[in-house]
Amino acid sequence: MSTQSEYITANKDRFLNELLDLLRIPSVSARSEHNADTLQCAEAVAQKLRDAGAEGVEVCATEGHPIVYAHKIIDPKLPTILVYGHYDVQPPDPLELWTSPPFEPVIKDGKIYARGACDDKGQMYMHVKAFETMMQTNTLTCNVKFMIEGEEEVGSSNLGKFVASNKERLKADVILISDTSMISMDTPSIDVGLRGLAYMEVEVVGPNRDLHSGVYGGAVANPATILAKMIAGMHDENNHITIPGFYDDVNNLTEAERKDLNAAPFDQAEFNTDLGITQEWGEKGYSTFERTGTRPTLEVNGIWSGYTGEGAKTVLPSKANAKISMRLVPNQNSDKISKLFADYFKSVAPPTVKVSVHEHHGGEPYLTPTDSIPYLAASKAIEKSFGKKPIPTRGGGSIPIVALFERELGLKSMLFGFGLDSDNLHSPNEKYDIFNFYKGIETIPYFYNYFAELSN
Ligand code: BES
Ligand code: MN
Ligand code: MN
Repeated sequence: MSTQSEYITANKDRFLNELLDLLRIPSVSARSEHNADTLQCAEAVAQKLRDAGAEGVEVCATEGHPIVYAHKIIDPKLPTILVYGHYDVQPPDPLELWTSPPFEPVIKDGKIYARGACDDKGQMYMHVKAFETMMQTNTLTCNVKFMIEGEEEVGSSNLGKFVASNKERLKADVILISDTSMISMDTPSIDVGLRGLAYMEVEVVGPNRDLHSGVYGGAVANPATILAKMIAGMHDENNHITIPGFYDDVNNLTEAERKDLNAAPFDQAEFNTDLGITQEWGEKGYSTFERTGTRPTLEVNGIWSGYTGEGAKTVLPSKANAKISMRLVPNQNSDKISKLFADYFKSVAPPTVKVSVHEHHGGEPYLTPTDSIPYLAASKAIEKSFGKKPIPTRGGGSIPIVALFERELGLKSMLFGFGLDSDNLHSPNEKYDIFNFYKGIETIPYFYNYFAELSN
């Protein structure tokens, strides 16, 4: 019988090719024209789990995209790890900015380029292959359950119901998730925080139809101008958000916590060059790490009005719209912030227009305690495979369902991410380093071992 590392080495190419096959399935959860692909992807994940040695494999139908469940119970007395991940991906648009087609993965400079390469197929699949490795080398030290969903990128709207009605089946000691990033391969880190989300859509309506901008312009309020002003007013000169009460519930970090966070290596110039920006931006008084990890924000995600086609059209648009989302930090509440936003937006609208506010999905922020068994197990596992102790950091992204897991199942989630912020998640040319993929497969079994050991 081979060791884990021998088994991984012997099966490396197959592991990678299987991931490439998964990446070829365009499981775009937001687009109904991809529903058949999304289902096909769920079935492919289920088959891979069966092949790896899982039992009770089921593609569970929901009102939306299915959830793949599987388990391997080796001994009821051993601790149980519930692996969560998602097989759905973001839409690949804008297609013209990809250097190779998003669902035809290519390998360049040791990196896999494809939609979902990192978020989250590449990272989710590490768990399937790590499980296979433990099965084949007879080294599985914990019971394991898998819950791989297909609606993470669209707000996990059916997962809550599944969790609530499958509490017994999902019983575990910890939830393990690889869907976040590390600072770099030289500076391994563990995300201990996720931000929450409140996502709004607004509409500003002026005249009852599009107007000739010469005939009527100057005498009628332009909704695009009004919306632009309203949005501009949402940050003050220090880039603080102006919505009354917005910061009321924010848990401010202690000076010691801020110092720890800022001790992580970070090169602002490199950050700027990578993004092609001339200067960074953000809330006054905070570093870049603090701005993305510990402070709430408000971003315009989309804005549209009037004529945007080729050439010029002189029009005074009847309405203007925007999608605006706010990232939340511990102790802020998504519903409360949504309401504050809606009240504020309506209160600052001038009497020349009508406004409406619609709420999309949201989610609560999350923190993993660093003095917990899962954190210690993760830290030791990473130290073993990277030769360096990881530092705790706070990710700026959101996985809203994590807070619900804690509420419904009473379980903490351990974020065990192997991506990089520069992997172009949700952007054109998403990528995942093959090195990280294998590193994850190597490190995950160490987590199982330490988790079993420390839980004992
Ligand atoms: N995997 C990401 C979240 C993430 C990425 C967290 C990097 C930390 C670091 C996840 O798939 C995601 O994109 N979440 C969405 C929220 C969801 C409701 C659409 C997000 O953060 O925008
Ligand atoms: Mn993800
Ligand atoms: Mn995502």
